[in-house]
Amino acid sequence: MDKRFESIKEEALSKINNAKSVKALNEVRNEYFAKSGLIATLMSKIRELAPNERKDYGQAVNTLKVFLEEKLGAALREAQSNELSEKLESEKIDLTLPGRNLETAPQHPFHLVKDEICDIFIGMGYIIAEGDEVEEDLFNFTLLNMPENHPARDMQDTFYINEKLLLRTHTSPVQARVMQKNKNQPLKMISPGKVFRRDDDDNTHSHQFGQVEGLVIGEGISFSHLKATLDLFAKKMFGPKREIRLRSSYFPFTEPSVEVDVSCHVCNGKGCSTCKGTGWIEILGAGMVNPNVLTMNGYDTEKFTGFAFGVGIERVAMLRYGIDDIRRFYQNDIRFLKEFPKR
Ligand code: DAH
Repeated sequence: MDKRFESIKEEALSKINNAKSVKALNEVRNEYFAKSGLIATLMSKIRELAPNERKDYGQAVNTLKVFLEEKLGAALREAQSNELSEKLESEKIDLTLPGRNLETAPQHPFHLVKDEICDIFIGMGYIIAEGDEVEEDLFNFTLLNMPENHPARDMQDTFYINEKLLLRTHTSPVQARVMQKNKNQPLKMISPGKVFRRDDDDNTHSHQFGQVEGLVIGEGISFSHLKATLDLFAKKMFGPKREIRLRSSYFPFTEPSVEVDVSCHVCNGKGCSTCKGTGWIEILGAGMVNPNVLTMNGYDTEKFTGFAFGVGIERVAMLRYGIDDIRRFYQNDIRFLKEFPKR
């Protein structure tokens, strides 16, 4: 290198070596290579020289320029790569660390049992129909063969929104709604949901509880279909050894009506505290759909017959899990809820 630029080169090299960051190196680069930087200043001096000196001078400046460009380029690449490594290192995520535990809730026994009941009937080919919790008086009572002033209405007092609207007292109104949609076509449906009664809460009563309604309509549907269906349900729900027993009962929307007991799964029918010594536990109400209900909701009773049933969800859950107080379903006590399996 030309002696003239030896000191410039040394100074530049030491500046490059001392600049440890990309930012500092860019400052050095500006000092030498900006429009009015040192290299440009040296180049412009060429005009002041005698013509025979210009070539040598120009070549010498150019050599310096190329040399510094290379040194700066290499230093910049190294600084960039170092800074990137540092950044990656500081932002490193340790994928082997155990994750923070999000506690998942167990299934609420109400939903656990509701889903289980539904699964059993879905397995028998039933479809699920949903109804509204706020229902018309017409569907909750009248279309189920309980006209105004029918004494059976007294058994199911509820919360009224106005003269015509109420919180449904059972899931049976879904029967009327689904029948009206499917007039004179075979039907096989269940309807799970919440129902309400103006009851004082105690260990077996709650002003809010759950039911699953069932309805089957077709040609030639008979009482034996009802019995076989409920027998299968009892065995799937409470175990293969369970028997059912039908007791004559009364519901305005079925005729004949029955109350269905299942042999006690705790004592196997011998008698214990769960079954109050009788060997049997009542689980649901059922019957053959009253022809009045079929007619009112659009079915030809010459052709169609049907059966229906309604099962209380908490009641089944209480029997299944030995729960002694229906209020536990609604108190949100974590210790109680933790007893049930997770999803
Ligand atoms: N709806 C009745 C109740 O809440 C239960 C019931 C009984 C439903 C007989 C039915 C049935 O479908 O056939 O007390």
